[in-house]
Amino acid sequence: MSEPASPTQHKGAKGYAALTAAAANWAYQPTADALAGRNILITGAGDGIGAAAAKTFASFGANVMLLGRTRQKLEQVFDWIEANTATEAVIVPCDLEQLTVDAVNALHDSIADSYGVLHGLMHNASMLGPRTPLAHYPASEWVRVMQVNVTAPFMLTQGLFTLLDQAPDSCVINTSSGVGRQGRAYWGAYAVSKFAAEGFNQVLADETENAGHIRVYSVNPGGTRTRMRAAAYPAEDPDTLPTAEDHMALYVYLMEGPQSGKTLPATGAQLEARGWQPSAD
Ligand SMILES: NC(=O)c1ccc[n+]([C@@H]2O[C@H](COP(=O)([O-])OP(=O)(O)OC[C@H]3O[C@@H](n4cnc5c(N)ncnc54)[C@H](OP(=O)(O)O)[C@@H]3O)[C@@H](O)[C@H]2O)c1
Repeated sequence: MSEPASPTQHKGAKGYAALTAAAANWAYQPTADALAGRNILITGAGDGIGAAAAKTFASFGANVMLLGRTRQKLEQVFDWIEANTATEAVIVPCDLEQLTVDAVNALHDSIADSYGVLHGLMHNASMLGPRTPLAHYPASEWVRVMQVNVTAPFMLTQGLFTLLDQAPDSCVINTSSGVGRQGRAYWGAYAVSKFAAEGFNQVLADETENAGHIRVYSVNPGGTRTRMRAAAYPAEDPDTLPTAEDHMALYVYLMEGPQSGKTLPATGAQLEARGWQPSAD
């Protein structure tokens, strides 16, 4: 296991221009070493919110595992982390549509060997799928969306559970959506998969609540300037939307856990990244 870098080496938001700009308006200002020594796996880490989260967590000192499907995008995030932070990143090339129990077991063993325990698991990768009435929704696309958005997070959580359980405290973030809390026409399998993510969040939180050291949250990023948002709303001006970096105070706060000394949301909570404020202590 690698030694965590000295806290003074971490730059926090200062080493990352988009984060520096966003952090000026954050409701919570973490210290530069808020995530020092924490090991966090992010799915869909090559683009959008996942890439911003990986770079942010690394800037605040975490060792990040970048899971995603497009190697070139993961390499760009990896190279950025190497060049701009004092932490270590690893790439986990993985198409979640093809995820197997054997692959999850191999990932478990590799994380156990390299890091020992897992402090954070951010389920972020998702497929949007067709925007089509249910009456015409292709069954083959339904199965793909459910595999990536529902079954893969279940398999990863199950296979990596002991690593989360062995950490003194750990955090699982399930990424939801507005259409996972209130159904909307033509959002098809994507909306239903996000309702499933909410259900998964509640069941896992209830099962782990008494052990007390695994916290589980559902986070709705809200409309955010990414490739997926542009695909869903092609006529929208992206500049009217918050950036992924605007939301990162909440993600750092949750991943930092009790060491922040702040009051954490109860496990199982449904959270909104847009307009999030930490509770007053
Ligand atoms: N942006 C919004 O307005 C918004 C609003 C509400 C909720 N969300 C949620 O926020 C999360 C991130 O979305 P985003 O907007 O950042 O989207 P994004 O920019 O499209 O990024 C999604 C990431 O998921 C990865 N991914 C997709 N299918 C995969 C697969 N089969 N295997 C591995 N990785 C896969 C993508 O990989 P590739 O780069 O290889 O395609 C990409 O890196 C999603 O769960 C989304 O539902 C977003």
